[in-house]
Amino acid sequence: MKKLRVGVIGAGSLSESHLGAYQQNPNVELVAICDLIEERAKAKAETYNIGHVYTDYHEMLKNPELDAISIVTWNNSHKEISVAALDAGKHVLCEKPLCMNHEEALEIKAATERSDKKFMVGYVRRHASNAVILKDFIDKGTLGDIYYAKASILRRLGNPGGWFSDKSRSGGGPLIDIGVHVIDLSWYLMGRPKVKSVSANTYSKLGNRSNIKSLSFYKAADYSPENDVEDLANALIRFDNGASLMVDVSFALHLKNDQSSVAVFGDKGGAEVEPKLTIIHEANDIILNSSPQVDHPSFDFSEGFQNEINHFVNCCLTGEEPIGGIDDGVEMMKILTAIYESAEKQQEIMFE
Ligand SMILES: NC(=O)c1ccc[n+]([C@@H]2O[C@H](COP(=O)([O-])OP(=O)(O)OC[C@H]3O[C@@H](n4cnc5c(N)ncnc54)[C@H](O)[C@@H]3O)[C@@H](O)[C@H]2O)c1
Repeated sequence: MKKLRVGVIGAGSLSESHLGAYQQNPNVELVAICDLIEERAKAKAETYNIGHVYTDYHEMLKNPELDAISIVTWNNSHKEISVAALDAGKHVLCEKPLCMNHEEALEIKAATERSDKKFMVGYVRRHASNAVILKDFIDKGTLGDIYYAKASILRRLGNPGGWFSDKSRSGGGPLIDIGVHVIDLSWYLMGRPKVKSVSANTYSKLGNRSNIKSLSFYKAADYSPENDVEDLANALIRFDNGASLMVDVSFALHLKNDQSSVAVFGDKGGAEVEPKLTIIHEANDIILNSSPQVDHPSFDFSEGFQNEINHFVNCCLTGEEPIGGIDDGVEMMKILTAIYESAEKQQEIMFE
């Protein structure tokens, strides 16, 4: 098979997961890396033996050796880089969130429509084996019709600071950063119904809590404590098929322990995909909680990224349609944008 020649834009913390997974794929040649900070790009080029280093992604996109790119930059650049890369004839894997809001998502969609290249959003949790296994059970009817889902990702002390807490570069706080993972996963498992209405709240009560001395927490590569994003968001999302999804997410909350859970409920059975894959069903008038015996019953970071990157590479090389294409990105940005709008207006947002 012909090798896919890949470049990565953004050489910060998460670029390791992309670069490492591309390096492990025998059908990939890593040819270019770009970051605003030249030293950062050069360091990755050295580690991963990458020939071309750039500080301006426009220059990188002119390189005819490149077939595909990963976008692993701040959220405020996802739209402009996606559009420029598609227009330059490159396949694109864009990190979540797709972009800053629904309007930007529609601009990317327009660029995909004038391009014959593949576009995929990095919804890594869909590619983890716990989700892949559950999706297969759902597709085969084990849960019946799914009418309810509940997603939660609550950090008590987890505002990473830096660009994550600067709304002009991130688009928002825990909702757009980590909430997107669990909302997307729930929505994907529910069968991707169209959103009908959203009712939500956001709170900015606690700030980034960088005053806490007793516990360490994850910090952005370029940390600064300034913060203008929400620290908690909750939402009730209704879909056109009658199903509903309840969500809550936080960077900071007076909570005993961090929590992460995603569960879906159907008329024949239910399932938890996080914190640990479990299928709840009924047989012989008995309720059974089944624990599939798998290597990774919970989300495994490196397995998820390896599967995601392998899938993207395969789509680019074979023409297969990506799991998590632009339409899924647009619907998710519609939901996230409506959550922020509903919270701001303190009213339900209704769609046609
Ligand atoms: N899928 C996941 O689980 C996951 C986890 C973490 C981060 N992410 C996403 O990955 C992206 C990057 O996050 P990170 O944690 O690596 O952040 P980071 O701050 O560690 O790295 C981002 C890098 O992008 C560079 N950059 C910003 N704008 C650029 C531009 N226009 N051109 C070139 N370089 C640019 C910055 O200099 C920085 O080095 C974000 O969109 C984030 O939401 C996804």
